[in-house]
Amino acid sequence: MKTLIVANWKMNPSSLAEANRLFGLVEKGSKKIKKAEVVVCPPFPYLLSMKYQASSIKLGAQDCFWEEKGAFTGEVSPLMLKNLRCNYVIIGHSERRNYFGETDGVINKKIKSALQAKLSPIFCIGETWQERNKGKTRQVLKSQIEKGLSGIKENEVNGLILAYEPVWAIGNGKICSFKEAQVMGFYSREIIARLFSSLLAKKIPVLYGGSVNSKNARDYVREGGFDGLLVGGASLNDQEFIEILRSVVNA
Ligand code: PGA
Repeated sequence: MKTLIVANWKMNPSSLAEANRLFGLVEKGSKKIKKAEVVVCPPFPYLLSMKYQASSIKLGAQDCFWEEKGAFTGEVSPLMLKNLRCNYVIIGHSERRNYFGETDGVINKKIKSALQAKLSPIFCIGETWQERNKGKTRQVLKSQIEKGLSGIKENEVNGLILAYEPVWAIGNGKICSFKEAQVMGFYSREIIARLFSSLLAKKIPVLYGGSVNSKNARDYVREGGFDGLLVGGASLNDQEFIEILRSVVNA
């Protein structure tokens, strides 16, 4: 399986011209890197860009709603994303949980709806600094996974991807060591094995995210046993992002 490197651009950059420029550079730089599957998740409006539509880079969205269509002002459905050539959608990112009050129940509906539309949900889980320091990390991950995947059968989870992102390590340069991350990556698979089967637990890609850069990327994948990375800040710098790709596949 190819290493999956997902760029989460979040609410950046502020113009289509800048976004196209960044996309073009990433596309050019990643062309020779065959062992990685590169996914770019730009803000919704940029998904329409012809440049992205004609590219070999896979497209993802940063969120979706759970209904297919209707009177839901401001929302975007998984079907719309699928029809725009998206293959992936990030669901349950900690910024959505924190700033927009997304609950495990909401995330569960979104995951179900994305799976139904044949999009691969990149389901984010992770503990806060306080939860970690109170020794509650496992409890948090277990609850997020169980609630997020509630009511979904094993034959319906095709395409599901887990992303372990310790909230305290996101966007601030605070590093979660690959050893600490690895333990939680394994633990997440254990939960999947208990909920579904050990076969699925082995098969499901688990990504790491949280202040990933070109210096630490390799360790999470090669030493930490992750199948790929979810990269925020560093994905906005084409050279740094390409370095991450190189370091991971050349290791
Ligand atoms: P970061 O963001 O790489 O800037 O920490 C990761 C994420 O939020 O997915």
